[in-house]
Amino acid sequence: MPARVRIVEVGPRDGLQNEPGTIDVATKLALIERLAGAGLAAIEAAAFVSPRWVPQMAGSGEVMRGIRRKPGVVYSALTPNMQGFGAALAAGCDEVAVFAAASETFSRKNINCSIAVSIDRFRPVVEAAREHGMRCRGYISCALGCPYEGAVDPQVVARLAAALYDMGCYEISLGDTIGVGTPSSTLRAFDACARVVPVDRLAGHFHDTWGMAIANIHAALGLGVGTYDASVGGLGGCPYSPGASGNVATENVVYLLHGLGIETGVDLDALVDCAAFICGALGRSPQSKVARARLAQRAREGGKS
Ligand code: HMG
Ligand code: MG
Repeated sequence: MPARVRIVEVGPRDGLQNEPGTIDVATKLALIERLAGAGLAAIEAAAFVSPRWVPQMAGSGEVMRGIRRKPGVVYSALTPNMQGFGAALAAGCDEVAVFAAASETFSRKNINCSIAVSIDRFRPVVEAAREHGMRCRGYISCALGCPYEGAVDPQVVARLAAALYDMGCYEISLGDTIGVGTPSSTLRAFDACARVVPVDRLAGHFHDTWGMAIANIHAALGLGVGTYDASVGGLGGCPYSPGASGNVATENVVYLLHGLGIETGVDLDALVDCAAFICGALGRSPQSKVARARLAQRAREGGKS
């Protein structure tokens, strides 16, 4: 298992893109700054996508420009095409990400084009990022299953991973978009990808719909995968993935990793405060096991004194 794991906090993007209400820029900024304060060094803060498709990500330029930067923290955003890349660049984004899918139907529903066309659209984005000294990440949605097509062949995922890596994406994040994966399907997909992309260039992005995300991370750790995406408070979902729930909660991941003696650089208590903050702003209490357990423990300890 890796001695240290890098967590990519996707709460401000994946977490908030599926919320029914609008979240104002000030709340997004407060969340992003608190997350950086808790020790998260990679924060996906925005998405330069069509506001007609994903209204929750409107104002991404304002968000990216408004962040009081903490030195050493990388603030990234989704950029599906050159229009998105131009907006991300103008807003001072540090790093960008393109997002493909291992299922044709999902690709069309999510980004309105086939997988092959998406690859052609990503190539100039990756090239432009390189010219501007920015890194570009590549996502693969539906890596463990598709809401429209069902099972996904790990070889299809691996071919796409190789295409994105060969194009110049520095890291390939395998997305279990609908959270149907199990440790065995996780191992099959990661194993296939690790044959064509160095394992230290792979990342896991698990949604927790069926409650397997932590088990899947544990399985991927065993293969040496050292980067995981997670969302504070377990917020999230994808608007084009009906029924999918949020990402694995960052606090659950941090608790697992620290319990395994793996360093993350994240302060669990400060992270639980972030979960309480954003869930409070959304009018609910944190649902993740770790946030609830820690908040209950604090309440008991407070009751004693
Ligand atoms: P399109 O309609 O095919 O684009 O959308 P188009 O090039 O034909 O342009 C149509 C209109 O969109 C034009 O505006 C463009 O200006 C505008 P109009 O002239 O009609 O007023 N447009 C844009 N506006 C802002 N930013 C842009 C942009 N591009 C075009 N970048 C597009 C194609 C990809 C833009 C659209 O389908 C889209 O925005 N889709 C949203 C995708 C999305 O954000 N999905 C959720 C995130 S992915 C995810 O959650 C999965 C992940 O978490 C991993 C996992 O869990 O699996 C990453
Ligand atoms: Mg996602």
